[in-house]
Amino acid sequence: MNTNNNINNNKTISVLMFPWLGYGHITPYLELAKKLCTRNFVIYLCSTPATLACIEKKINEKLSQFITLVPLFLPVLPNLPIDFHTTNGLPHHLMPVLKEAFDLSAPNFADILAKIKPDLLIYDFLQPWAPLAAKDQNIPAVEFITSSSTMTSFMFHYFKNPSIEFPFSKIYFRDYESNNKKRLLDCASNPKEKERASLGVNRSCNIVLIKGSRDIEGKYIDYVTSLVGKKFVAVGPLVQQPDPNDQGYDIISWLDKKERRSTVFVSFGSEYFLTKQDIDEIAYGLELSNVNFIWVIRFPKDENGSNGKTLAKTLPLGFLERVGNRGKVVEGWAPQAKILGHVNIGGFVSHCGWNSVLESMNFGVPIIAVPMHLDQPINARLVEEIGVGVEVLRDGNTKIRRGTLSDVIKRVVIEDAGELVRKTAADIKDRLREGGDKETDEVVKELAKLCGKI
Ligand code: UDX
Repeated sequence: MNTNNNINNNKTISVLMFPWLGYGHITPYLELAKKLCTRNFVIYLCSTPATLACIEKKINEKLSQFITLVPLFLPVLPNLPIDFHTTNGLPHHLMPVLKEAFDLSAPNFADILAKIKPDLLIYDFLQPWAPLAAKDQNIPAVEFITSSSTMTSFMFHYFKNPSIEFPFSKIYFRDYESNNKKRLLDCASNPKEKERASLGVNRSCNIVLIKGSRDIEGKYIDYVTSLVGKKFVAVGPLVQQPDPNDQGYDIISWLDKKERRSTVFVSFGSEYFLTKQDIDEIAYGLELSNVNFIWVIRFPKDENGSNGKTLAKTLPLGFLERVGNRGKVVEGWAPQAKILGHVNIGGFVSHCGWNSVLESMNFGVPIIAVPMHLDQPINARLVEEIGVGVEVLRDGNTKIRRGTLSDVIKRVVIEDAGELVRKTAADIKDRLREGGDKETDEVVKELAKLCGKI
């Protein structure tokens, strides 16, 4: 491998990358790997065999010269299905058992490091034990955080200064607490869980990579740098690009026939499952808005691969007939990057997962923010602060309201009142793209310094 003429072998840097399994983690690692490959790096990407099988499909022949896939075998645990996979997202309920399996795989991982002897380890913040294995073998380890800097600085602040509100406007402790009760209870009852967020970072080298751009999150990057005492370096938006293999979807040909900027894309990421109440309110909200839509709905699967839920049984009675050709509902998975990049998309009804936010900005699509949990409420506030979207406020902080959703969709996509949001979203697209290359150059410089290669 690695016979490409662009690479000066004296300065080639070998990196072992170790992402967490979720789709929203794998994608940025792979996009970072692609960028590093064009700048004298060779990459070893370590994950479970099932995950690597999904990644392999996304790596073309040219890239496979620079990226070697390295399987990590997890211990067999009673509650861990053998065939969990990441093609259409990681089942959220498996998180605890997967974390346990990964923690127990530390000796296997140490063997992999010893065999490959990379110049550098880049690991996910959900695997805080990984830098210990690297330290034992004198390999520098850099943490790569795939959340927003806004969320990351908020979390460090929250645990460090629990009695002082976050010093940036419009982001309050209650935004996080009301949506993460279970997680906070876990932290209170299990100090290990609380430590998890900061353990890895404390064990890593003096720089931390973070997904995003200084242009949109500069003040949060500076704040987290000051809180943690390590330099946070933005790696750029690293959004997944439309996959040419996705052409077969009939929704794209349906979308081709709509008018420019006339249609909203509605999706809640790869992990969250909508409740029946969410589905009702969203359906009626879309119906009331009179705006075209593509809506992707995922159902949780049981051991047999299905739990008996179907679109026909779940959507409000007569909904599909009433909206007719104005809307498309897709079960399972849709080619999000391809859809957001389509000129006929005029808005994105999104849960504000960080990948989705950056993808929307990357394609200049304004966001109708419907955050559900985790970091999403914080990201939604950032979307409003930057001016690229509008949050759909809930009734008493609990329920999405169809009328509010419909009003925000109309404002963002068609009404004069949404002109500024549409323009800001269109402008940010160019700014993000211009900044991306500079950010990659900065990352390369920092990593090369760490490995003593410049
Ligand atoms: C998770 C958390 O839920 C989120 O809060 C956190 O910010 C990141 O990790 P997820 O819910 O999957 O992520 O959302 P998101 O970060 O938006 O990532 C979803 C990815 O899956 C995007 O790259 C999106 O393009 C892709 N996707 C999702 C599809 O391509 N098709 C789909 O149908 C759904």
